[in-house]
Amino acid sequence: MVCLGVVIVSFISWRCKGINGQFPGPTIRAEVGDTLHIAVTNKLFTEGISIHWHGIRQFGTPWADGTASISQCAIIPGETFHYRFKLDKAGTFLYHGHNGMQRTGGLYGSLIVDLPKGQKEPFHYDDEINILLSDWWHKSVQDLEAGLSLDAESFRWVYEPQSLLINGRGQFGCSLGANFINHSLPVCHFKGDEECAPYIVRVLPNKTYRMRIASVASLVSLNFAISNHKMVVVEADGNYVQPFTVDKIDIYSGESYSVLITTNQNPNQNYWISSSHQDNNVSTTQALTLLNYKRISPSILPSFPPPPTFPWYDFEGRKAFTKKILALKGTPQPPKYSQRRIVFLNTQDLINGYIKFVLNGISLSLPPTPYLGSIKFKLKNAFDWRAPPENYPQDYDIDNEETTKNLNSTLGNMVYMFPLNQVVDVVLQNALGIGPNSSAFHPWHLHGHDFWVVGFGEGKFKDGDEKSFNLKNPPLKNTIVVFPYGWTAIRFRADNPGVWAFHCHMEPHLHMGMGVVFAEGVQYVKGIPDQALACGLTGEMFVNKNTHS
Ligand code: C2O
Ligand code: CU
Repeated sequence: MVCLGVVIVSFISWRCKGINGQFPGPTIRAEVGDTLHIAVTNKLFTEGISIHWHGIRQFGTPWADGTASISQCAIIPGETFHYRFKLDKAGTFLYHGHNGMQRTGGLYGSLIVDLPKGQKEPFHYDDEINILLSDWWHKSVQDLEAGLSLDAESFRWVYEPQSLLINGRGQFGCSLGANFINHSLPVCHFKGDEECAPYIVRVLPNKTYRMRIASVASLVSLNFAISNHKMVVVEADGNYVQPFTVDKIDIYSGESYSVLITTNQNPNQNYWISSSHQDNNVSTTQALTLLNYKRISPSILPSFPPPPTFPWYDFEGRKAFTKKILALKGTPQPPKYSQRRIVFLNTQDLINGYIKFVLNGISLSLPPTPYLGSIKFKLKNAFDWRAPPENYPQDYDIDNEETTKNLNSTLGNMVYMFPLNQVVDVVLQNALGIGPNSSAFHPWHLHGHDFWVVGFGEGKFKDGDEKSFNLKNPPLKNTIVVFPYGWTAIRFRADNPGVWAFHCHMEPHLHMGMGVVFAEGVQYVKGIPDQALACGLTGEMFVNKNTHS
């Protein structure tokens, strides 16, 4: 079956990008085996766009991955680009803009892939609920980007968002939970039909619901909870996990979960649903909405306080949650050995007076010609073809920011090239950035693959630490966090011909260079549409070909 979706990106209101006049964009829903055909028309006036289908591996269609400068040329204003790709796996996914910081500007939506008819999930539920979490700034994306691009003296961090959103709805200047939270905000009152009225989750008593929860947050890590209702986690990033029960889930940008909830509480009251900020600064008000059993008015506020919020430095609580995620029996296991190990030192450095994130001393600065075309056609001048560093100086002290000086950091656009099917271990090594206590949480996302999360550790990863890797039931994911002052190890097989971004999913971090580019088997890639190559050196190549023939 071919599903046709038409996605038109335009401004729906001041500073807010929307799709088909909706914010968030429409939920795209299809079945395994379907081919999605999505025509994206750029109705913005000045900016190029591309849309990434986050979690979809794009086997055979790497040109449809939607990463500007990597898999395609940005779609210019007025143009339509046709994404066509096959859905090979069920799960909860996302889509979002992938050019500059357009995700922060609101260019996103949910993508849900169902099992083919007749196949059953390994858990039971009566109905489902879809929740998309995000964060919201009052400043325009242009303004936020501009602040990040200033030299270190004038540099303006984005700081914290003004609101957190649940399905695109958030409050500012009031809180539904104001009566219980000890601050000066008034209680929000809604009739229910306002543009920003909370998205009420309506349920029936004594049923089991599959709640799909995904985060496209620009920056913050969130925790999500429903008062009086336990959550049984069954899916993470489109992969089944060994079910475990929790009161709240920690969700990092780019992650998705399915949890089962049972509506077995008193149906004559409403319950809080909350999404709370969990970052350096905790003053953004938690986003609240209600779980309503359809027995009473959805506007009656609960008589008890909303779920607690947790401080960002609750490292132990956050690690405990992430380490509970293990693969469900029957999930493919990782290869026993890896053939290559790349260690990425995650830190910050000053480059020519600008604050940048660097990986082994290199801060990603994307070239104008998308890599997929320049590697396929071996364009020597499109980017720096030298092999980038696979480790960092062994005497580097991850707890001492002075030592970044030894990295001699530079901007770069080199590519990690893998022979097709190579088994690769990547160790994300966290360290101090610039400033005290500056080792941060970073959710790393890999395009084109799921990877096994084989290990976590404190301090510096050492030779031999691979002996402690979990090769028995490591979860398959596409996004995983690296904790402050520690390391996270993943294993994957480079079995998907194409060029793939691997980056921190906090958009301002990526904007400051926190990403790398992987390529494998590009010689086998076929059928790249001309439009994906119509810029930079590949664009010139076409023009020359046409004028010479
Ligand atoms: Cu959801 Cu490269 O990102
Ligand atoms: Cu980051």
